[in-house]
Amino acid sequence: MNNKNIQLNKEGRLRHFLDIEGIKRQLLVEILDAAESFSSVEAQRVKKVPLLRGKTIVNLFFEPSTRTRNTFELAAKRLSADTLNVNISASATSKGESLLDMLHNLEAMHCDMFVVRHAQSGAAHFIAQHVAPHISVINAGDGSHAHPTQAMLDMFTIRRHKQAFADLKVAIVGDILHSRVARSQIHALTTLGVTEVRVIGPKTLIPDISTALGVHVYHDMWEGLREVDVVIMLRLQKERMTGALLPSEHEYYKLYGLTPEKLAVAKEDAIVMHPGPINRGVEISSEVADGPQSVILEQVSNGIAVRMAVMSILMGQSFSSDGEAGP
Ligand code: CP
Repeated sequence: MNNKNIQLNKEGRLRHFLDIEGIKRQLLVEILDAAESFSSVEAQRVKKVPLLRGKTIVNLFFEPSTRTRNTFELAAKRLSADTLNVNISASATSKGESLLDMLHNLEAMHCDMFVVRHAQSGAAHFIAQHVAPHISVINAGDGSHAHPTQAMLDMFTIRRHKQAFADLKVAIVGDILHSRVARSQIHALTTLGVTEVRVIGPKTLIPDISTALGVHVYHDMWEGLREVDVVIMLRLQKERMTGALLPSEHEYYKLYGLTPEKLAVAKEDAIVMHPGPINRGVEISSEVADGPQSVILEQVSNGIAVRMAVMSILMGQSFSSDGEAGP
């Protein structure tokens, strides 16, 4: 999918945020730095800045979500935008209205941004191709293709704990094949200059293109976790699996579930991440998920600042932590 042109305007600024692939390091760093400024808003007595006052942001979630949908809504509210959560199951799409007709009707309500989650890879890209020129589209997860704001909040969390990306060894463990998060993380990590990205999982869940993406493939978790700085666990995405790719959840947990014993082969100060939702006892033990090395809930909190950053950059607004807003 070539998103390069459609994501950027003529000046090379972000117009839509659909995929990390094709975005230059400088733009990723701009998002991380802006998120750093926005994280101070959380500490204010009134958790709001007037940056997107008068703008209307529409959440269009065609697939379930807890973290992404709610942090997008909170982020929009923190920026003083008006928010609209379209209830897809109660919308006129259930009466046969097409997706494009629905979008054009929302455009007629003078909306400025669509945040889209969809089970089909390429859905956000398709919508971005058909919206009016003043509207920005953010991909909040499309099929097994991309989840760019998740990857950016993950990069933000890593930077907060490890400062620089160079010299880091990062392992992504589990169902890489069906994971839009893994794909976006791999692009973000390599663009930001991480020394070594490893993917760990059974042969059936590692896509053939992994080595082409510049990652090191491991099927033995004990070997793959050795001396890594960051461990990112992934859920088994059964909703996207066709056919029998695994022997059993019990067997999977034995081989690829993150337990304190397996985590001990990573660096002593390694952090444990997971985009959620987590399945305890399938890909991660409760001891690790709730343990001192886990930053899983921090990832969720960081999602607000990162999504504030992406939305304000797309709307051409900048912010510094001393409260100064700029065009
Ligand atoms: N990480 C993530 O996308 O979670 P949700 O499905 O709850 O949004």
